[in-house]
Amino acid sequence: RPDLLDMEGLSADEIRALLDTAQKLKEMTGGCRNKISLLTGKTCANLFFENSTRTRNSFSLAARRMGADTVEFSSSGSSVTKGETFVDTAKTIEAMGVDWVVTRHAVPGTPHLLSRELACSVINAGDGPHDHPTQGLLDMLTILQHRGSIEGLTVALVGDIAHSRTARANIWGLSKLGAHVIVCGPPTLVSPRWSELGFEVAHSLDEILPRCDVLNLLRIQFERQSARPFPSVHEYAALYAMNRARMKRAKDNILIMAPGPINRGVEITPEVADGPHSVILEQVTNGIAVRMAALWLTAGAKSNLTT
Ligand code: CP
Repeated sequence: RPDLLDMEGLSADEIRALLDTAQKLKEMTGGCRNKISLLTGKTCANLFFENSTRTRNSFSLAARRMGADTVEFSSSGSSVTKGETFVDTAKTIEAMGVDWVVTRHAVPGTPHLLSRELACSVINAGDGPHDHPTQGLLDMLTILQHRGSIEGLTVALVGDIAHSRTARANIWGLSKLGAHVIVCGPPTLVSPRWSELGFEVAHSLDEILPRCDVLNLLRIQFERQSARPFPSVHEYAALYAMNRARMKRAKDNILIMAPGPINRGVEITPEVADGPHSVILEQVTNGIAVRMAALWLTAGAKSNLTT
């Protein structure tokens, strides 16, 4: 059974198939709102060991929009609090008769571990700072809907690259589809190693801003930083927050994206988050579309949606 474990392991053709399928499913469901019955009789289990609003709810809705049942598991309130291990928990849920385990965990590689331990399909809904493939896909789908193509676009990922699974999913996915990717942020949050891997590294948003087609503004992940963060939130906002003044120096048709949750006033100001260039809520809707595609294609379906 196929899994969806990370963006780094997908080929360009596999990414295109996921994006094409997501777009078709979005249209078939009237913008992700109506039910279809492609997955009737199947069951999707959400195993979340970290908090989530967007990913968890959109996986649930994606499964239910396609006719599948869902099992909702949260580590708090479960028998994990009595000492049950992650793998035993996942095997227990699988034994209830599920076709997918969608997992989010703070430890990188946990979906890969489950892939070896379980017989059902495993989908990574975020493993620590490592990867978040459906987030990368929904970001790319949103860009495609606005620009028609990703090839040749200049896309900057701005902020806490060091701790961001969204950054990694976008870096691998966008570069495979031919975008020029810039990783931009303070030196404490952007490793110089990215330039060794062929990506542009920038520390000044103001310098790169005029040539960017898309900005994806990442949250500082305080929960993954043990020491007091540097720069401070105040310093970070002064140097990297997308605000009204910076919008004046951006391209007229720039797309402003954020994976969410957003911290208003830190990486983005309210007038930009809610302004005409922002596609943040379109990203949320597209999350249902790409998660329907992920479920469909890992169920072993053909990407052309013939059954
Ligand atoms: N972007 C994202 O993963 O959001 P949630 O943490 O709310 O799922």
